[in-house]
Amino acid sequence: MTETIHPAAGRAGSIDRAEYERQYEAARNDPDGYWREQAGVIDWSRPFTVVKDTSFDQADFRIRWFADGQLNVSANCLDRHLATRGDQAAIVWEGDEPGETRTVTYRELHELTCRFANVLKAHGVAKGDRVTLYLPMVPEAAAAMLACTRIGAIHSIVFGGFSPDSLANRINDCDPRLVVTADEGCRGGKRIPLKANVDSALESCPGVESVLVLRRTGAAVPMVEGRDVWLDEELAMVDGDCPAEPMDAEDPLFILYTSGSTGKPKGVLHTTGGYLVWVAKTFRDVFDWREGELFWCTADIGWVTGHSYVVYGPLANGATTVMFDGVPSHPDHGRLWETVDRLRVNILYTAPTALRALMREGDGYVTKYDRGSLRLLGTVGEPINPEAWDWYWRVVGDRRCPVVDTWWQTETGGILISALPHATDLKPGSATRPLPGVLPQLVDGEGVPLDGAAAGNLCLTDSWPGQMRTVWGDHDRFFQTYFTTYPGKYFTGDGCRRDTDGYYWITGRVDDVINVSGHRMGTAEVESALVLHPKVAEAAVVGFPHEVKGQGIYAFVTLNAGEEWSEALATELKQWVRREIGPIATPDALQGAPGLPKTRSGKIMRRILRKIAEGEVGALGDTSTLADPAVVDALVAGRVG
Ligand code: WT7
Repeated sequence: MTETIHPAAGRAGSIDRAEYERQYEAARNDPDGYWREQAGVIDWSRPFTVVKDTSFDQADFRIRWFADGQLNVSANCLDRHLATRGDQAAIVWEGDEPGETRTVTYRELHELTCRFANVLKAHGVAKGDRVTLYLPMVPEAAAAMLACTRIGAIHSIVFGGFSPDSLANRINDCDPRLVVTADEGCRGGKRIPLKANVDSALESCPGVESVLVLRRTGAAVPMVEGRDVWLDEELAMVDGDCPAEPMDAEDPLFILYTSGSTGKPKGVLHTTGGYLVWVAKTFRDVFDWREGELFWCTADIGWVTGHSYVVYGPLANGATTVMFDGVPSHPDHGRLWETVDRLRVNILYTAPTALRALMREGDGYVTKYDRGSLRLLGTVGEPINPEAWDWYWRVVGDRRCPVVDTWWQTETGGILISALPHATDLKPGSATRPLPGVLPQLVDGEGVPLDGAAAGNLCLTDSWPGQMRTVWGDHDRFFQTYFTTYPGKYFTGDGCRRDTDGYYWITGRVDDVINVSGHRMGTAEVESALVLHPKVAEAAVVGFPHEVKGQGIYAFVTLNAGEEWSEALATELKQWVRREIGPIATPDALQGAPGLPKTRSGKIMRRILRKIAEGEVGALGDTSTLADPAVVDALVAGRVG
């Protein structure tokens, strides 16, 4: 299981071991020279003269890349391909039902984007304005993103699985003028009431002036006079051309909300030049992409993986990207492999949680389809256990396709630690080594750097172009969150081990964030939702190992005096959280807790709750600092699951 897999020779242009080492050293020794050259992966309408202008120190804290250069993202993703690839597919759309497909060429996507941009303008959207997108996985969603970039508007995509309340919070934080949604979404044969959710969210969002509604299912949805308009009707009324606005490299590109250790999600802000360089280069290098290949990243555009590797990375390179509006279990567990076979997918990028769920259903669902088109497999989102890695490699890829385990974060913009398929020896379960320009460091709890083989907290000691630039509306929170735990370094929030070969093994979050099916969830967010329930006095949420999801959500709940715990109430509370945040936040286990283990100063000792949730009740450690050690016995006795 711990065998090392040596890379097969690549094709002309693949990065081999020597080239990786050369680039890594070049980026470390001369970042300006290295990135000046690499930034040529995209087109600049005005060349930059300064390259790297960054410091993680409080006194002169700044993160700026290519700052005096200008470019436009949609021009890079569309216009520059028209002469050579106008009739090539930009997007192959695969609907919720197998075979429900649609191909959009670069020329068509260019026109759709231009029209979309003109519709935005007609509704008063200007450079710097925010636009919230709450959409299914359809080509119009990519066009909406690109249309924003074309006119310099900042998009904020909210995953279609989030509740009206979560949507309203994300709208009110960035104050968009306009929201784009659809009548309904389709997922696994079920309908998602996107427009109804927007209607209910907007009851508490006074700033939104217009709602563009895409027809996806044709369902009859109420339209608010003077606010809501049908997208197809608007698109038909405007011009098919729209100039691309030259943007400064450091102009905001998009906001994407992600969970942290407080109850309020952070609006991660990425900017134009550095982000596009990073996703264009990592797409090309990590997936070793070649002209004509079909790339399929199964992520939703509501997550950063969808931004960077469904839309921007592939389109910046002129690739053909698959947009999947379904789920891997519908109509059955063979869906991914049936689709790979039918569409002739060359590169597949998915999450370990999906692989674990499919692996349980048996190899038959895989082997009944032809996977000969596959050349490379990738994973992202959470640590991959060696069993799932081995299954991906052996059963899905027939031991032919390298598996790249890519570590990164919403904050990093794109992949930072990953194998390169023709340069790196693969070890199942390790994201392997940092890409050129990435300088990881492991530190102990006091921030002391650890050398050689060691386990510690994963930091990055210097900036890379794709790094987030701020938390929307709260620059101080950005600095406090990432740069004060270990001053002078960016702290990722992840624990990590480095082996004797210098390989990195991410062990998971060390903060109050849990990773559920590859989605990041703040324990404080779930707690806030629980205490909103009239019967709940207090709640503490921790993660526990879950066979399919990676981590599950375990909630300890203290009820108000006079309330009685019951199975029915547990079910009601699960539904409550689901409705407050969204299905991904639904607790897997809920335990009534007469009291929570607190220190004398009132701090909840999560370490103890984690052990109880994990079922490791024999190893609770020191409980002598608790105000009332007896509560622990009660919790151990009442453990569920
Ligand atoms: C967190 C970031 C990266 C886009 C999707 C998730 C975990 C991500 C890996 C990996 C081990 C991983 C980390 C990270 N993570 N990729 N290959 N191996 N852990 O983005 O929601 O911002 O979550 O996901 O814990 O900090 P995100």
